[in-house]
Amino acid sequence: MCGIIGCVGRGDETLETLVHGLESLEYRGYDSAGVALGGDSFGVCKTSGEIEQLRAALAEQSLSGSVGIGHTRWSTHGPPTDENAHPHQDCTGEVAVVHNGIIENYQELRDDLTAAGHTFKSETDTEVVPHLIEDELASGAAPEAAVRTAVSQLEGSYAIAAIVDGTDALFAARNDSPLVIGVGLDAEGTGSTNLANGPYFIASDVPAFRKYTAQVIYLEDGEFARLDGSLTVTGADGQPVEKAVETIEWDPEETGKSGYDHYMLKEINEQPRALRQCLRGRVDELASTVDVESIGDLDPSGIQFVACGTSYHAALYGSQLFEQAGVPSQAYLASEYASSPPPIGDDLVVGITQSGETADTLSALREAKQRGAETLTVTNTVGSTATRECDHALYIRSGPEIGVAATKTFAGQLAALNLFTLATVEDSQRRSSVIPALRDLPGDMQSVLDNSTAAEVAEEYATAESFFFIGRRYQYPVALEGALKLKEISYEHAEGFAAGELKHGPLALVTDQTPVFALVVGDGPIARKTVGNIKEVQARDAPVVAVTDGQSNAATYADHVLEIPETNPRAAALLTNVQLQLVAYHVADNLGRPIDKPRNLAKSVTVE
Ligand code: M6R
Repeated sequence: MCGIIGCVGRGDETLETLVHGLESLEYRGYDSAGVALGGDSFGVCKTSGEIEQLRAALAEQSLSGSVGIGHTRWSTHGPPTDENAHPHQDCTGEVAVVHNGIIENYQELRDDLTAAGHTFKSETDTEVVPHLIEDELASGAAPEAAVRTAVSQLEGSYAIAAIVDGTDALFAARNDSPLVIGVGLDAEGTGSTNLANGPYFIASDVPAFRKYTAQVIYLEDGEFARLDGSLTVTGADGQPVEKAVETIEWDPEETGKSGYDHYMLKEINEQPRALRQCLRGRVDELASTVDVESIGDLDPSGIQFVACGTSYHAALYGSQLFEQAGVPSQAYLASEYASSPPPIGDDLVVGITQSGETADTLSALREAKQRGAETLTVTNTVGSTATRECDHALYIRSGPEIGVAATKTFAGQLAALNLFTLATVEDSQRRSSVIPALRDLPGDMQSVLDNSTAAEVAEEYATAESFFFIGRRYQYPVALEGALKLKEISYEHAEGFAAGELKHGPLALVTDQTPVFALVVGDGPIARKTVGNIKEVQARDAPVVAVTDGQSNAATYADHVLEIPETNPRAAALLTNVQLQLVAYHVADNLGRPIDKPRNLAKSVTVE
């Protein structure tokens, strides 16, 4: 999704700060990029394609200034062309604007502005904003008032940053789209936050300026910020708002690749550490208790989960945990939630979202609130919109995830959901069987990572026609997740199924060109049934890869085996999933795909 960066007070470093910020936002997915600088001079440079192309364009153009804004665009209105790239300008070229979100009334505004004589250069919804500002300036408004009035005419979702020629200030506003302000350190470099003089940054996400500061202020819907030699935040009524400065705890190093070829591979390998962070201080093995901040007193009679993509697969898993504990539970795709049955009694609605900014999930959570439900978010992102709008937040503590493919955050979600059930609805017998497995999970996962032969399996099947994944109970969401991971980064066709469903239709697709990955844990009735399904696909000549702890005889019928250690079936889901993440990664690598930035996809999907 689109990314915004802006800064003031960085002197000669302004342009490089902006471009670095855009590079740090690349993980969100984009198809064009641009910057605008103001202050002593005023200019815009933008281009379709990657930031390398923007750098090349900048080398041809002399651009300098003490205040600036930058943007990576993920197309919604109009294709990825130079003209549609942000920043957008007015007719006079004195205003530059970047925007994330969707302006719903842009067509009416554009028609009115065109009728009044404005000329549009792009097909975007965003371009109405600089023209609205232009009109206000022409009628004598000061730059801040002009931007404020223009923004007040917008309907829809927006995070906006604007600069005006001849003004050393940056203006920003948000509604339903994230914006965070970074407060720089003092000029002497003593390390203390300098609220009086900046420098200040504004971005859609913290990594854009994390290199320069860990001190942040989250802008709320309806708020307006002016950043220059000082910082002023005002509410919709124009009155100043006191904002708390928060400290981001993760290190900028955590957002580097640390020698790995791709963020995805780094993040897959970070999972043992991410799990330790998730569990730390929350599980007391001696006392066999789980204590999770902010949710300890919840005693839901029923749960509705809402989520998208990988987080939805975590929701399916979480719903099984609650059902097994006797609490009625249902997982909904967030984008379908509005047409679902309303929560009953004191049902809790739980939004699972790594970013905390997914528009579909936020919209479902708002719908739940309107229906009178208490809400909880399971998220990785402190200060995200989901955490601010929900009644409770359960943090998965996975650290920043840059690769578009969710990996360590899925593991964190499953671990946190275990903590959630153990802390709220599960009895001591269940706790004493699950807690030791959670304790061993980081080590078990490390052993999977150290011994996996997924790269060889991936090499053998990289050019297969289709890939199928089958599993039952806790392995069913993993089968869905394995297929999603493979298709999003390799662009190959993949499907996940509940193993028992194969014979009800999908079996017609199975041939010797379609490897089937069968997830088999334990040696109980569930495992035995999945082994039966393996035999069915083998009889149709499909190559079989068994992902198994070796307790059943699944390996006997498999062409390849990806092993996991024996553990509790709930924990095993995280281990089989690592093998599938590695398969997806290596298939995509064999095919030469741009693994961290798959085509058409965005890390944070902030439109519905
Ligand atoms: O930030 P969220 O967890 O709400 O994101 C939801 C999905 O967009 C996300 O899980 C997506 O499916 C993954 N990037 C796929 O790997």
